Amino acid sequence: MGMKFLKLGVLGSGRGTNFVAIQEAILAGKVNAKVQVVVSDMAGAPILDQARRFGLPAEALPAGKFKTRLEPEIEEKLVSILRAHDVEWVILAGYMRVVKPPMLEAFPGRIINIHPSLLPKFKGLEAWKQALEAGEKQAGCTVHYVNAGVDEGAIIEQRVVPILPGDTSESLHARIQVAEHELFPSVIQKLSQAGAA
Ligand code: GAR
Repeated sequence: MGMKFLKLGVLGSGRGTNFVAIQEAILAGKVNAKVQVVVSDMAGAPILDQARRFGLPAEALPAGKFKTRLEPEIEEKLVSILRAHDVEWVILAGYMRVVKPPMLEAFPGRIINIHPSLLPKFKGLEAWKQALEAGEKQAGCTVHYVNAGVDEGAIIEQRVVPILPGDTSESLHARIQVAEHELFPSVIQKLSQAGAA
């Protein structure tokens, strides 16, 4: 069971700090993978600038008329873009769209997502805020396989992050992101070591 070189397609809608953590871990030789392309549903998303800064292909693919998913024809286009870049594994790094059958069937068992909570608690948007408002003592982040449910696929690994007295939504999210930047590259490296085929 040798080490497998993972060809990644990264999808993101926002700042792209998780993408940067993954790419820096790759460049540091800590993750045996290559980012083949970065695609965003938001044409002006900083994640695209970050990708270009690393000299990586970056493409905007606006979602169309829906808020939480892509129009089916656009999702087919996403599959084509990822295939054209020879992507094997799809990494959702702050991608604020639900993926549907076109993606799930094109990359079965090969789409993973990072979510800012200790799933199955606090699915959906601004999960850290939900944890804070619920009076939890702990929050965290989860990397999981993506299936047809929302934030429901099999959990791969989690990191616990304490909620401290005086935490605001911003301070808590920042602490969770530090954990995310450590967890996500480490999970990708484990998938590569598992010879994940
Ligand atoms: C991350 O905190 C990630 O967990 C969250 O979006 C942020 C993206 O940050 N994802 C979700 O909430 C998915 N439901 P980034 O653009 O700086 O990587």
